[in-house]
Amino acid sequence: MINEIKLADLDKGQFIDEKVREISAAVGDGTAINALSGGVDSSAVTMLGHRALGKKLRTVFIQNGLMREGEAGFIKGIFRSLGVEIEIIDARREFLDALKGITDPEKKREAITQTFYKDVFGRIVRESNARHLLQGTILTDVDETVAGIKRQHNVFAQLGIDPQQTFGYQIIEPLIQLRKDGVRAVGKALGLPEEIFARIPFPGPALAARIIGEVTEEKLETVRKATSVVEKMLSGRGAFQYMAILHEDRVTGMRDGKRDFGRQIEVRCWDSVDARTATPTRLPFEVLEKLAADIVEQVPGVVSVTYNITTKPPSTIEAV
Ligand code: XMP
Repeated sequence: MINEIKLADLDKGQFIDEKVREISAAVGDGTAINALSGGVDSSAVTMLGHRALGKKLRTVFIQNGLMREGEAGFIKGIFRSLGVEIEIIDARREFLDALKGITDPEKKREAITQTFYKDVFGRIVRESNARHLLQGTILTDVDETVAGIKRQHNVFAQLGIDPQQTFGYQIIEPLIQLRKDGVRAVGKALGLPEEIFARIPFPGPALAARIIGEVTEEKLETVRKATSVVEKMLSGRGAFQYMAILHEDRVTGMRDGKRDFGRQIEVRCWDSVDARTATPTRLPFEVLEKLAADIVEQVPGVVSVTYNITTKPPSTIEAV
């Protein structure tokens, strides 16, 4: 049973001091590693870890080929300005190979989990002799996994999986009592810039959570471009999260007077406090029209754009 700390009860200074002490005590004279994805959770953990361990913490950014456009360089730059050096590890081929031919959503998630924790991370940890992995699991990740809704990529103990036995290292999860709002507050208190602590959530399986059916390089390119258009257009409107989803079905469209059997992008934009429930944002129709026009213009192969108007539940925030 995890003791939830609600935002209203969170003493940020005390929380940070306590976690820094716990991380130092757990790692002792050893070294630790953490994977920074650039999301709020892993960014907050990176700052906590560096406070606790300094040079004894190695922070890596796994380039899995499933990230947003320009993400690795963007994150490296931000953390450099905070005095934290990030190592970028190119594992694109491994992830794409692992995802080949898989269409089932849970199997896709499982393939990403295994590739990340067992193959890529297992190797890094073995080579570095680190005994601990710091990661930014939050309470919502645990809830949804335990409830059997979605197998979040970063939940183990609650499923009866012992990381030490399975992967060969211990996992430290300093944010597990918090939800997203609490993590943002702690991230801000740790000195993260607003573009990070206020950043919309992004799932561990990254763009693979937004591709229905098999994940291929070509589909990743399409969803990556569409994500870029959607994020540019919908940022600054106060929505909780917004995204582009690439559907597997094709639909007949027309381009330059010719039939074009093309791809469909579904835009989702959510109002939510903690991701447990969510409602679609009532975007002005002109914004939706502009989104559609920009997506079909800027994303090759797309002939149809739709907007999701279903609440969570029964929908979930991501599509996979
Ligand atoms: P769903 O799609 O389950 O998403 O309604 C709830 C929130 O969690 C994010 N999400 C994930 N975060 N690992 C994560 O760290 C995951 O595997 C994962 N799947 C979904 C999602 O973006 C939303 O904010």
